[in-house]
Amino acid sequence: MRSFTMGWRRATLFALAPATFLGSICYYFATRPDPVELAQLQLAGRELFVREWTANDAQAHGDGLGPVFNANSCAACHFQGGVGGGGDAVHNVTAYEVHPTVRDRHLQKGLVHVSAVDPSLAESPLLVKKCFPVIPGGERLVGGCTVKIEDFDPVRIETTNSIALFGDGLIDRLAESKIRLNYARRMMHQLRHEIGGDFHTVGTGRPRMLPDGRLGKFGWKAQFATLEEFVAAACANELGLGNPLMEQAKPLGRNYRCEEADLTRQEFRQLVSFVDSIPRPVEVLPTDWRQRALAERGKKVFESVGCAECHTPDLGNVVGIYSDLLLHSVTARVSDGYRHELVVEVPLPDGHPEPDEWRTPPLWGVADSAPYFHDGGSPTLEAAIARHDGSARVVTSAYAVLSAADKQSLIAFLQTLQAPDDAQPPTKALLAANEPAAGR
Ligand code: HEC
Ligand code: HEC
Repeated sequence: MRSFTMGWRRATLFALAPATFLGSICYYFATRPDPVELAQLQLAGRELFVREWTANDAQAHGDGLGPVFNANSCAACHFQGGVGGGGDAVHNVTAYEVHPTVRDRHLQKGLVHVSAVDPSLAESPLLVKKCFPVIPGGERLVGGCTVKIEDFDPVRIETTNSIALFGDGLIDRLAESKIRLNYARRMMHQLRHEIGGDFHTVGTGRPRMLPDGRLGKFGWKAQFATLEEFVAAACANELGLGNPLMEQAKPLGRNYRCEEADLTRQEFRQLVSFVDSIPRPVEVLPTDWRQRALAERGKKVFESVGCAECHTPDLGNVVGIYSDLLLHSVTARVSDGYRHELVVEVPLPDGHPEPDEWRTPPLWGVADSAPYFHDGGSPTLEAAIARHDGSARVVTSAYAVLSAADKQSLIAFLQTLQAPDDAQPPTKALLAANEPAAGR
């Protein structure tokens, strides 16, 4: 009887296993768009990416552009080296963060939009400060002692430069474990040096852990884990387009409601699909043999001087990314008026970045994405290199004593990291749209 039961179970298992396997394959192919459908999705997504939206746009299902926005199309800020590239300093975005206080324990974030469809909804850094005023300090009696408490300004305002989206699909598909593995390797490397008494090493940085436990990969602060979420936030915050994942940005300090999202689920899928498909940058060696030799030498200098420690050439299967996607502080710790550590009333969420921690930017495509650094404050590659301090101090010092020829070769190598060939150049209309809007 027992052997019959076993046999019956085994027979069921044998029958079910191939069925489950076949089922998984069918599901995989059923949910994966076929190549023609995918190409159509991406094409429609490209239209949405370059579309110049207007208030009450006929294409939108809600109120169209705005009520507050930074530009009228994605391509207005993502255009250098082709559609999807980085942006100039004129299109920098101003973001604010309001730190939790005893009265309001929520961390709040938003953008200070440069434009509004109705002038009465206009925002400004001054308005942010007005909405979240400084909490006055003073003298307080704590345990019988008089303690002087400083004034607390809960607002931090930063300006950031547009990031090129070339190859973002590959970063999206890069497994978190590969970033962690590279980080662990770097930690071991540093430990080995420190045990040997060498404390002059490059800082390891750290992965950005988001409050929900995922690892952040996108944005200057590695603040988003997936491309889809970043695209949703870009639609909502940069253009004021409500979408299935996120409501449009509301004007600061105002009540504004729009029931309908501007983008349908299908349109949003198209846009994400296009951004996901933007080709990765390329490494183009010069045809002239002398220039070619110089760039090849520069690639070696890049490794030997220590740039590659943070600008990791390959991360998992993403070859030639030149980033570890970790947060680092490369700012000098001197009294330069920059607040490095946050003085807060109420602790920030675990892992929240310090003001001077930024994600190592991937250097692929760097020849076509000036200006550099998070604020676009470094106009040239030379200026960007010279600006590295903090955790990169050892490397910057090594770079400073390189021969002029080696320095030149390093730049020649960085110049080979270019936007992809098939990134369509911006059209005339796009370039015109890129002119600063009236009233900026
Ligand atoms: C006003 C300029 C502006 C507009 C318009 C704009 N972006 Fe951006 N974009 C930026 C800036 C600035 C960043 C970097 C923000 C940060 O991390 O602080 C960025 C970053 C991104 C990133 C992250 C890239 C990475 O590799 O980390 C994605 C994805 C993105 N934008 C997609 C879009 C899409 C899609 C649209 C249109 C819906 C759009 N952007 C519209 C300025 C803009
Ligand atoms: C400790 C890690 C670290 C080392 C070492 C390092 N970098 Fe960076 N690099 C960064 C970070 C982080 C940023 C962004 C800083 C910011 O925006 O404030 C950056 C920015 C850059 C940029 C600007 C890229 C852009 O898109 O804006 C360039 C170019 C660059 N690094 C090249 C180099 C070179 C060349 C070397 C070697 C001489 C080097 N880096 C060494 C971490 C590092």
